[in-house]
Amino acid sequence: MSTYTRIKGTKDIFGEEVKYWEYIENTAKNLFKIYGYKEIRTPLIEKTELFSRGIGQETDIVQKEMYTFDDKKGRSLTLRPEGTASVARAYIENSLITLGSPQKLFYIGPMFRYEKPQAGRYREFYQIGAEIFGTDHPLADAELITFVHDFFNKLKLSNFKVKINNIGTFESREKYKEVLKTYYQPLLPNLCEDCQRRFNTNIMRLLDCKIDVEAAKNAPSILDYLDEESREHFHNLQKYLKAYNVPYQVDPKIVRGLDYYTKTAFEVEHSDLGEQAVIAGGGRYDDLVEQLEGPKTQGVGFAIGIERVIEALKRENVEVESESEIDVYVAFQGEKGEMAAITLSKELRKKGINTFLNISKRNLSGQFKHANRLNAKYVVVIGDEEISRDIVTIKNMKSGEQTQIERNWVSEIIVEKLREE
Ligand code: HAM
Repeated sequence: MSTYTRIKGTKDIFGEEVKYWEYIENTAKNLFKIYGYKEIRTPLIEKTELFSRGIGQETDIVQKEMYTFDDKKGRSLTLRPEGTASVARAYIENSLITLGSPQKLFYIGPMFRYEKPQAGRYREFYQIGAEIFGTDHPLADAELITFVHDFFNKLKLSNFKVKINNIGTFESREKYKEVLKTYYQPLLPNLCEDCQRRFNTNIMRLLDCKIDVEAAKNAPSILDYLDEESREHFHNLQKYLKAYNVPYQVDPKIVRGLDYYTKTAFEVEHSDLGEQAVIAGGGRYDDLVEQLEGPKTQGVGFAIGIERVIEALKRENVEVESESEIDVYVAFQGEKGEMAAITLSKELRKKGINTFLNISKRNLSGQFKHANRLNAKYVVVIGDEEISRDIVTIKNMKSGEQTQIERNWVSEIIVEKLREE
């Protein structure tokens, strides 16, 4: 074993795994187009303050999970732990507001969190995210949730559930936090370590504690303490979700782990995933852009965890086809065969046929073995005999059937055969 191994909590993606990534990312990109989103790509590193200010000083992410380091000039930088703060920063910095509101943006890429690695929890993981800037209409929230629902359906997942909540404005939440403190105060000595710490720093997180579930069960509900505006927003969101035919469940325990949320908070859970069951999470953040010194701009968004979605696809035995199969392996023998093989490969590739030209010094039987390993559908052979008769031999690797065809007709015949499959 070499000393050069992967960093804990990261992974290499190759072989059979790749088809899941292609399937998920292509489905997402197509659907984003259908819903009218534009792509945005932001840097993987940002100034540390962006995240501590945007996500919230007291959150687990900022307190414990950021990959933060000083660069050579002593500036503190951080590998992005999520996408929303970066996209909001880009929205402000590039004056995207001038392009008209609302704006719908999406991104796909890696995020970094120094968490304890376990199934469904990595230190480098990928998110598919979307953000809408410049509208406080609950129709935007409903459309995002509908997108997520539509997306999981398109992937052919079934065992997932959309859970929604409204956690009010910052002001109405202060009132609720007081009520929650009064409720939890007498229980505190018996609560877990995390709950004891969060009691003072982030009391609402006690509601989604995996250990002290009983205590959370009887806690007062945020929905009873909402301001009028949030209440109406939540009511309308549900009206639109019904119009879109998206099944959902109201769950007042959805509080989310990031501080920027206002009003809508939602998560999607997959029932086959055990502890890391949340495959998507999001909500509204009407104050974030202003907090990052931008103009008053409301926002709402979500992010989906790709690794967890892959696990869900596997658990549900969803069949995923590989998109990058090899149609034709071009094998050759001799110098003339080599030249003819190059010409034929050019011709096949021009016709859009996935072509693997032999690039090794193997003999013919070695090339056939290689084609077999690569799962090629056809092998075309150009050897001395083929050259002298101006033909090629073509073998169907599945049926084993082998025929000889005139050189001039090769690409047309292969196109035809592939179409017939
Ligand atoms: P989040 O809930 O922190 O939200 O992450 C969204 C999703 O990313 C999670 O539901 C989960 O599927 C996946 N995820 C998070 N951490 C890990 C990890 N360590 N390993 C594997 N998967 C993980 C956000 O990041 C917000 N930016 C979402 C958002 C966008 N809200 C508004 N706009």
